[in-house]
Amino acid sequence: MSTRQDLSELSSGEKRTLLKRLLKKGASKPPDDTSSAYKFPPEFALIRQYAENDGTRGVADLFYQSFDGLNRDTAVHRGRELINFCSYNYLGMSGDPVVSQAAVDAIGTYGTSVSASRVVSGERSIHREFETELARWLGTEDAIVFVGGFGTNEDVVGHLFGKGDLILYDSLIHASIQQGAKLSGATIAPFPHNNLDALENLLQRQRGAANQVLIVAEGVYSMDGDLPDLPRLIEIKKRHDALLMVDEAHSIGVLGRTGRGVGEHYGVDASDVDLWMGTLSKMFASCGGYIAGAKSLVAYIRYTAPGFVYSVGLSPPNTAAALASLNLVQKEPERVATLQARANLFRDLARERGLDIGASHDSAVIPVITGGSKKAVLLSRRLLKKGVLALPIVHPAVPEGMARIRFFVSSTHSEEQIRRSVEATADVVARLPNIED
Ligand SMILES: Cc1ncc(COP(=O)(O)O)c(C=O)c1O
Repeated sequence: MSTRQDLSELSSGEKRTLLKRLLKKGASKPPDDTSSAYKFPPEFALIRQYAENDGTRGVADLFYQSFDGLNRDTAVHRGRELINFCSYNYLGMSGDPVVSQAAVDAIGTYGTSVSASRVVSGERSIHREFETELARWLGTEDAIVFVGGFGTNEDVVGHLFGKGDLILYDSLIHASIQQGAKLSGATIAPFPHNNLDALENLLQRQRGAANQVLIVAEGVYSMDGDLPDLPRLIEIKKRHDALLMVDEAHSIGVLGRTGRGVGEHYGVDASDVDLWMGTLSKMFASCGGYIAGAKSLVAYIRYTAPGFVYSVGLSPPNTAAALASLNLVQKEPERVATLQARANLFRDLARERGLDIGASHDSAVIPVITGGSKKAVLLSRRLLKKGVLALPIVHPAVPEGMARIRFFVSSTHSEEQIRRSVEATADVVARLPNIED
């Protein structure tokens, strides 16, 4: 279990099973200390168990920890500097003086908020400057930015599709896509992770009855650090007259020679993907999300997507930080090369030390699979003691017996930090007790 959001991704059946298990283990009943009139679902006991009481796996205190200073190769916790593998600050843009100064300058010029939807008085020249430059960099006709990455997916998928349409997504797709699909009212058909034969089967059976069909994949999957077979997805979507959306949250800035993501990695034509989506929170050192694609589709979103039209424009410092990061990645492509080299070094060393890193390749996400959940939690805890921060993911966020801790590498990690961390991990793993679960 990673976060409260992961809990919300469980089916109600899974929640009930987990709740029963926890109640058996002595978890608290729904709270009676509330002054709220809200009728809490029974699984709130479960959430509290993880978030506050934590009488089960000993995992809650690992989450919602408060850190000081920058979130990059290191993090400071209670005055202690840790080697940090949880930053998602893939290219070290957050905390870069050039990016920070751009945000400060934008505040000086525009203030901290544009206060209004861009449709009315919220539009500022840096919004279009960023969107135009982003589209040019990605090789698409246009792009549009929203105030949140999650909201981008939820709003765009929820808005563009509806009853009579079919949305097929990889079973490991992010919760924001699942929420959008639910919101849309379209028929939803997940396919097993990276199993494109299964996707074909679904299309053969269900394409005929559907109006518009959307296939959604991620550029890098954050549980396993693996990639989709994008060329085959493109071939499939063309053959079945479907649209293809790729969420590049963990691939933009990471894959491809110049960091232009999974499309550059495979050398595909940008126009073969209908909706390129990315967050601004990771590579772009900001907060927000984008959609890049054909001019007409971006224009339709600009004039009709409720989460864009009826929401405030991206804040000036966030827009300026994203623009500065975009300029910097083009000026300093060596950041991308360094990130790729560090991630490969981590993978090579981990394999040498016999660690199970699953299907991770090419990306900056590297899991170390422990099997049992308790082992993953113990590993994370013991690493913390050794000054390495990497958090566990346990069942049901991953299948039973596939618990893991995940390392998100940044270009700011030194070789020495990587070596020390892999050594520490291998040492701890070798000494883990042989516990079930
Ligand atoms: C694949 C994916 N899509 C979308 C999002 C949402 O982005 P944000 O956190 O910027 O809202 C995330 C967040 O981690 C993600 O991993």
